[in-house]
Parts: sequence; structure tokens; C-alpha cells
Amino acid sequence: MKVQFLQLQTHGDERGSLIALEEGKNIPFSVKRVYYMFDTGKGVRRGFHAHKTLKQVVVAVRGSCRFMLDDGQEKIEIRLDHPCQGLLIESFIWREMYDFSEDCVLMVLADQLYEESDYVRDYASFLTAVAQ
Ligand code: TYD
Repeated sequence: MKVQFLQLQTHGDERGSLIALEEGKNIPFSVKRVYYMFDTGKGVRRGFHAHKTLKQVVVAVRGSCRFMLDDGQEKIEIRLDHPCQGLLIESFIWREMYDFSEDCVLMVLADQLYEESDYVRDYASFLTAVAQ
């Protein structure tokens, strides 16, 4: 599956911790957009899409949540629960996010601006596309 964990180096000292995200270094693409989800309601499940070309790195900068990732052949579940964990998700991976902790802030770095035409939001169409 075109999904990879990125161990993000933490610079810590007695004052606390710091993580830097740099394109071409620990982020393997040019970052065009950053967005974050927070205040996600209890029991909410979101995502339900794949991207045709977009790549992204997801980090739970606070709190935790789970991802169900599906490439049309297998489904895996991943829990993000620490700011030093990055999750690289490439194109044509169906994702659903759930079990958000109340304090979860889920940050996404993407290699493209927001473009609705890059989304596949219908699961049957996703399965047809990956089968080709
Ligand atoms: P949506 O795609 O439904 O979120 P998800 O699939 O992750 O659950 O996005 C929610 C709303 O925010 C929708 O109206 C589109 C808008 N949006 C933007 O305007 N810019 C963005 O970068 C993103 C990701 C969403």
C-alpha cells in the first residue's frame, strides 16, 4: 500500500519539544497547502474519499485518531497518537478517519491546492479506478 510512516525528528530539551517539517527533507514533496481539523465531534467519521493525484502527510499534532486506509485490495487501520508520527498517504488510497479524541488536532500537508476535481468521493468509482 502506498502509505508510509515518517518518524519525525524531535528537537527536545528541558524547555520542551519542537518538530520542524521541511519540504524535500522530512516531507517528500513541495508543500502547497496546510490545513487542520479540530473540534471533531464524538463518533464522527470523516474522509470517505481518495485523491487522483494528491499526496499528503498527516500528523496528529495533538490528541489521537484512527485511519482506515484502503487501496482497493487491502484495508489497514492506523492510529496516530503522537506529534512525531507522520503518515504519508499517496494517491488512490481511500481513507476514513474516526475515533478522534476530544483534543485532536489533525494537521495535513498537501502537495496541491484544494481542488474538488482531484477527489474520488464515490467508493464504487474508486474501486473501478484502482482495478484498471
Ligand atoms: P471535506 O472534504 O468534507 O473534509 P473530509 O473529506 O476530510 O472529511 O471538507 C470539508 C469542507 O471544507 C468542504 O466544504 C470543503 C472545504 N475544504 C476547503 O475549502 N479547503 C480544503 O483545503 C479542504 C481540505 C476542505
